[in-house]
Amino acid sequence: MSQPTIESILQEKRSFSPPSEFSEKAQIKSLQEYQQLYEQAKADPQKFWADLAAQELDWFQKWDTVLDWQPPFAKWFVGGKINISYNCLDRHLTTWRRNKAALIWEGEPGDSRTLTYAQLHREVCQMANVLKQLGVQKGDCVGIYMPMIPEAAIAMLACARIGAPHTVVFGGFSAEALKDRLVDASAKLVITADGGWRKDAIVPLKDQVDLALANQGVPSIENVLVVERTKQTTQMEPGRDHWWHELQAGVSADCPAEPMDSEDMLFILYTSGTTGKPKGVVHTTAGYNLYSHMTLKWAFDLQDTDVYWCTADVGWITGHSYIVYGPLSNGATSVMYEGAPRPSNPGCSWDVVEKYGVNIFYTAPTAIRAFIKMGEQYPNARDLSSLRLLGTVGEPINPEAWMWYHKVIGGERCPIVDTWWQTETGGFMITPLPGAIPTKPGSATLPFPGIIADVVDLEGNPVSNNQGGYLVVRHPWPGMMRTVYGDPDRFRRTYWEHIPPQDGQYLYFAGDGARKDEDGYFWVMGRVDDVINVAGHRLGTMEIESALVSHPAVAEAAVVGRPDEVKGEDVFAFVTLEGSYSPSEELEKELKQHVVKEIGAIARPGQIRFTDGMPKTRSGKIMRRLLRNLAAGQEVAGDTSTLEDRGVLDKLRGGA
Ligand code: WT7
Repeated sequence: MSQPTIESILQEKRSFSPPSEFSEKAQIKSLQEYQQLYEQAKADPQKFWADLAAQELDWFQKWDTVLDWQPPFAKWFVGGKINISYNCLDRHLTTWRRNKAALIWEGEPGDSRTLTYAQLHREVCQMANVLKQLGVQKGDCVGIYMPMIPEAAIAMLACARIGAPHTVVFGGFSAEALKDRLVDASAKLVITADGGWRKDAIVPLKDQVDLALANQGVPSIENVLVVERTKQTTQMEPGRDHWWHELQAGVSADCPAEPMDSEDMLFILYTSGTTGKPKGVVHTTAGYNLYSHMTLKWAFDLQDTDVYWCTADVGWITGHSYIVYGPLSNGATSVMYEGAPRPSNPGCSWDVVEKYGVNIFYTAPTAIRAFIKMGEQYPNARDLSSLRLLGTVGEPINPEAWMWYHKVIGGERCPIVDTWWQTETGGFMITPLPGAIPTKPGSATLPFPGIIADVVDLEGNPVSNNQGGYLVVRHPWPGMMRTVYGDPDRFRRTYWEHIPPQDGQYLYFAGDGARKDEDGYFWVMGRVDDVINVAGHRLGTMEIESALVSHPAVAEAAVVGRPDEVKGEDVFAFVTLEGSYSPSEELEKELKQHVVKEIGAIARPGQIRFTDGMPKTRSGKIMRRLLRNLAAGQEVAGDTSTLEDRGVLDKLRGGA
């Protein structure tokens, strides 16, 4: 059950046609229909997106220019006025969806809540008015640090409603990580909760906020809005901290959505890159609204009667696009779950599917592998017959996990939609359209209409079939990130200059290795940079190294990913110590805890190996390739002639 390798994937020849019962009712019913759409979009992308924008979204004012492309900076629907909160809420209130469930929420301790579109609209308007009362104005950035409760979605929509860009910080990040992000975004207010439930314990989020804000940690913050969830005691600082339920009690539910320019910033979402500092990925209003809307509608063949459940957290892009904005813009019913499978409740996911009759289920390969490990008795004991489509995202899915998902969860009747995309892309880029495109286990299949994807070498030349290369995108698309917040140069360098533009044609460099097979199917192999993927979470190795060296005992640190059965990869750290320290189990524990404090539990190294020296080139560069081999317990492969001190390798091996 390891990551797919080139060899295992080359041998994967199985193909599954869309079930005919599925195709008959699907929005896009055949391969020909997909191909037609694809060709049409390729021939005139601007017309393709403009037609959809007019058809699918409500506008306060139509745009003048569909696309303004000054590579690598794109503007979509320039001159248009729109509000995504309006598209997610208000426009449904004049239809039968007024009393349709917008959010169905299941709390970890078993409490639950359903909000219809009308109810959700009311709460969003109230929170928007509270934000205004607390001095938040159009253009001010608001931090959101929340557990998976409806108020997380309410907070996002309330910000969008008044034109305050939000930056959601995953509740599993530490106070330090929260502080860095709030400082970078100059957030004026934070919305949080006293705590959230995680694996039968309370995560005291508000205490983390207090730590982040202590000693003027985030000078721009004026107020903290606190949702009551777990009810343990928390210190409320007078004048700064406010209970949401107290302010909600006295506020009007009338708050018209602010007409926003198409290109006004909707949110910043921080993600890990190759350097130490996470980058603020900027998404804007209209293009993102259209792209998250269309991709969900077609790739998941969303029908008005569907109950749809995405298991992500709102702290990640998947939660933004496919728990909140995409589903609500489509008027769908989106399930939100606070819990996670845990030893005390290994069947909880299937309880949720059965309880609400979930039709579409979207999760990550790491979760699927954890389900396999827990055993089929749990899904087998539940009625999963409501399911009609299964999705996966976050990392390459190994064919064994794909087949298990197909058989045990999908009862061999549900198409599996393997969606390749990124925080930066806003929505799905390579994905089956389930009624049209035959699937192959381990392949994300073909690009979404309007997306010109390719696999190229470092000069930008397409590589031949079944050759490995770099995954790129050739034409701008509405959901693409617009810049790195505060650092347009980094945006250019990271995504557009790895492969030099040819004849003015810019290629978006995704950072993934891939190959295309003889049917044009894409097989994504994983990151080609210093980013690792641990249980579907994206982590920068440099970020973890910086955390380690900030500990007084650490002289030098090198972090690599080590293959892991369930998580895909695990964090493996090589550490050299300052002279006065010596290796010990206690120190190993302490360093792991230090990383948790600096970043969060998701970055905790699975293993730390103390070493006297790192394998370096003569110019002083750490040879990570060798460390990856060592971490995996493999023989060191390839050329080692550039190694400065060959003795280091033997010593490192000795520790294995
Ligand atoms: C990276 C993006 C997009 C939401 C979740 C992660 C990997 C994502 C797939 C897939 C193979 C995948 C890539 C990508 N990835 N989906 N279906 N098959 N790899 O978002 O944190 O921005 O990470 O996740 O390596 O670059 P993210």
